[in-house]
Amino acid sequence: MMTKPRNTTIKNFIFSWKYTESSRKLLAASIVCQVFSAIMGIAAPAISAQIIIDYTRNEGRRVMLIAVTLLVVQLLRNLFLVMSNQGYNRVYTKTMSSLERDLVSNVLKIESQCVDEKGSGLFIQRITTDTGRIASGFTSVADMFTQILNYFGVMCAMFFVNPSIALLVIFIMGTQCAMELWRTRRLYRDDRSFRSANELFSGLVSEMVRGAKDVKLLDSEEVFTEALNERIEESNDKRLFMQTRSWRAKLVRWELGEFGTYALIVVLTWLISKNMILPSIALVFFHYYAELGPNAVKVIGSFMDSIADFNISNERVYALLNSPEFPKEQFGDTELESPRGEITFDHVSFSYDTAGDRKVLDDLCFTIRSGEMVGLVGKSGCGKTTTFNLISKLYEATEGQVLLDGIDIRKLTRKSIRSSMTVVTQNPYIFRMSVKENLRIVKEDMTDEEMIRVCKLACIDEDIMGMPNGYDTLIGEGGVNLSGGQRQRLAIARCMLRDSRIILFDEATSALDNATQAKIQQAIDNMREGKTVMIIAHRLSTIAGADRILLMQDGKIAAEGTHPELLTNCEAYRSLAAMDNSEEETHEETSSVNEDYGSARRRGKRRDL
Ligand SMILES: Nc1ncnc2c1ncn2[C@@H]1O[C@H](COP(=O)(O)OP(=O)(O)OP(=O)(O)O)[C@@H](O)[C@H]1O
Ligand SMILES: [Mg+2]
Repeated sequence: MMTKPRNTTIKNFIFSWKYTESSRKLLAASIVCQVFSAIMGIAAPAISAQIIIDYTRNEGRRVMLIAVTLLVVQLLRNLFLVMSNQGYNRVYTKTMSSLERDLVSNVLKIESQCVDEKGSGLFIQRITTDTGRIASGFTSVADMFTQILNYFGVMCAMFFVNPSIALLVIFIMGTQCAMELWRTRRLYRDDRSFRSANELFSGLVSEMVRGAKDVKLLDSEEVFTEALNERIEESNDKRLFMQTRSWRAKLVRWELGEFGTYALIVVLTWLISKNMILPSIALVFFHYYAELGPNAVKVIGSFMDSIADFNISNERVYALLNSPEFPKEQFGDTELESPRGEITFDHVSFSYDTAGDRKVLDDLCFTIRSGEMVGLVGKSGCGKTTTFNLISKLYEATEGQVLLDGIDIRKLTRKSIRSSMTVVTQNPYIFRMSVKENLRIVKEDMTDEEMIRVCKLACIDEDIMGMPNGYDTLIGEGGVNLSGGQRQRLAIARCMLRDSRIILFDEATSALDNATQAKIQQAIDNMREGKTVMIIAHRLSTIAGADRILLMQDGKIAAEGTHPELLTNCEAYRSLAAMDNSEEETHEETSSVNEDYGSARRRGKRRDL
């Protein structure tokens, strides 16, 4: 659904005002400093005129005194200006940080389906670019406010000296300002379309960087470079179009400014020649205009630019926070005090596409009793991971109900659902932090003893001890990269540390050799006391000891029973087992070689925490 455009500046300011909360006093102080600086700026030309008058009257001492006063006034003017600018910088940074924090926490609440559809580029752009533009909207308005006061002061001074010339100046400036307003309105429209193009470009860049290895291995650099070029061109065309229009308008505006300056010089010279004003007064007048004329238009121009930026960025940020285009995960308010770990699928259907055209789960029904260990098997793409996604409420059932301890999962609080279960995914995400921090994210008060115990159980301790800084080794870019099996074992250690009531393993040991898998199997058996465990396994040996095995086919349960029962009664299961046996033989041959190599490599490693 399209978001209703929120292009009213006032509305946008009201919306984002809350983000300035921590810096409002500073904003007020900066405005006061700028007002003082402006007052000094108005006084300076008048004082200079007095110097000229006194000098022509040969009053040397007064000239000295006024010159010193002028220096002090200029010094104060600059001091106040620096203070106000420093203040504005801090207001900008604080407002931006507060927006960034709110935006990031809201992005984490957006439904997984929407994040899948939109891609990461959109979110990255809005969090990193639009927040800064909103923050500078506030400093621009504060700046503009004081500038207006300044100009008002200067106008009054000019009217006081000569109302006709003041009117001429207002006319020249008015024309330029109108031109500037027209330019920024056009810019607003062009910039919107440029930013959408840029979002697509940065989305592709982020995918290319994350998938750089695969791009190389697939030898598909050219395909990606071509796609990237297309997006670069599209974005550049829009940028160039926008800038060309803007510069053309600026050119007209500059010429108007030049014309105004010469017109003023002619008028002032004529007035002096007719003895209608003193040359010193004409000089003060010209000084004011030189300061006010081009500056005012420049200030209005950049103010309008940043207001246009502010409005567009607000629209985009507002959409992320509030629009139905980015739906947030919904949770209920029922707490599960002490979860038993019973999972029920009651006629559940689900499709990833919102139109519901392709059902991934189709009228799925099963119950996993508390404390049971159940295996989930089936061909690739039959909906096993999707079933886990629905249990953890990353996605919601399109029809039917998923129940935890007999309660519809939609009625439960986020905490009740997420803290009662741990999912070890097919491709677990290990964050770019140290090993210790990767474990601590699930248990802040973890002790070193606990950490080592779970890592030993997950058979990853020896590997960690072999890393340059043991448990403090940084994982990922700039640190150590983990193998698929090491990632899985670290994820299993994380799971053991969480010690939740329900544990969902999605091919969690698929990248492990037989010996390691057997050890982890033992560890899972040891910790499963009182827990509900579901295991998706490709290798049937992993789930041979399960209380029950569910065989999935096309989003439904096709058969269920123990391993021996299914071998006897179910043809589809037998054929899975047959395929598994042939793979197992190949796997064993390779893994025995790996084990010899692995144990030789690990010999002699020392604990050094
Ligand atoms: N995020 C997604 N968006 C759209 N379709 C998806 C998404 N994730 C999975 N699918 C589709 O849903 C179907 C079931 O996927 P699922 O991941 O549940 O299969 P699976 O049984 O876990 O397979 P495997 O054994 O290969 O892991 C597949 O056809 C897949 O293409
Ligand atoms: Mg899967």
